[in-house]
Amino acid sequence: MTLKEKLNTDKIPQHVAIIMDGNGRWAAMHGNERFFGHEQGVESVRSVLEGASEIGIKYLTLYAFSTENWSRPKAEVDALMGLLVHAINAETESLKKKNVKLSMIGDFDSLPDEVQQKLEWSINELKDCTGVNLILALSYSSKWEITEAIRKIAEDVQAQKLKTEDITKELIDKYLATNGIPDPELLIRTSGENRLSNFLLWQVAYSEFYFTPVLWPDFTKEHLFEAVYDYQNRERRFGKTSQQIVS
Ligand code: IPE
Ligand code: IPE
Ligand code: MG
Repeated sequence: MTLKEKLNTDKIPQHVAIIMDGNGRWAAMHGNERFFGHEQGVESVRSVLEGASEIGIKYLTLYAFSTENWSRPKAEVDALMGLLVHAINAETESLKKKNVKLSMIGDFDSLPDEVQQKLEWSINELKDCTGVNLILALSYSSKWEITEAIRKIAEDVQAQKLKTEDITKELIDKYLATNGIPDPELLIRTSGENRLSNFLLWQVAYSEFYFTPVLWPDFTKEHLFEAVYDYQNRERRFGKTSQQIVS
């Protein structure tokens, strides 16, 4: 029996979020420049997306570039932005065939013009797709997102579109970049780092975390299945007792 066959089809997470980490270390291990790792990372995205589609994951959020990543050397930032443009160009047609819908979360305006244009183009090309929702977190950080949400809520209160008593956790959800997307049941981080690095802090309040030492360029859909299998064998209690869950 393969790992995929062992998965419980009734317990597939709707939304899996992944912190794709370890590209630089992978490149160094292979005696190469960091960029080589980022390039290889695109292959992992392809494999994981295919795996997500095979097992029926509806939303796949990939942390591709954080607000903090702007602090990297300019040459690496430029190379990453170039790779993004290249990947979107090269993959959009095949994403369409695979029925993948694309969206992004993050500070769109901070991205270089060329990236903005390509993203807009690709999102539009794929807008009628009904398969996996691929969500790219680009120039994203949770504290940026929450700050933006609070600012918009304050503006709407000031403009009397909202009353302070309207502010509930459901309303906050609506002001976040992830509006309309269910919270991830499963969060994966590769490369052995045990931290969130400013990713989806609000949305992962009750997610299951899966940390793996596998570096992102080595991560394949088989590793995704392993993570989902692990997830399926956990008991999610949401504050209740184990006894309550069992009965
Ligand atoms: C993840 O790999 C990709 C991005 C953050 C853009 P890293 O580039 O962080 O690789 P390591 O952590 O240095 O190995
Ligand atoms: C987190 O990875 C961001 C992305 C994967 C895009 P980093 O490699 O930038 O995280 P830190 O700085 O080591 O926490
Ligand atoms: Mg890293």
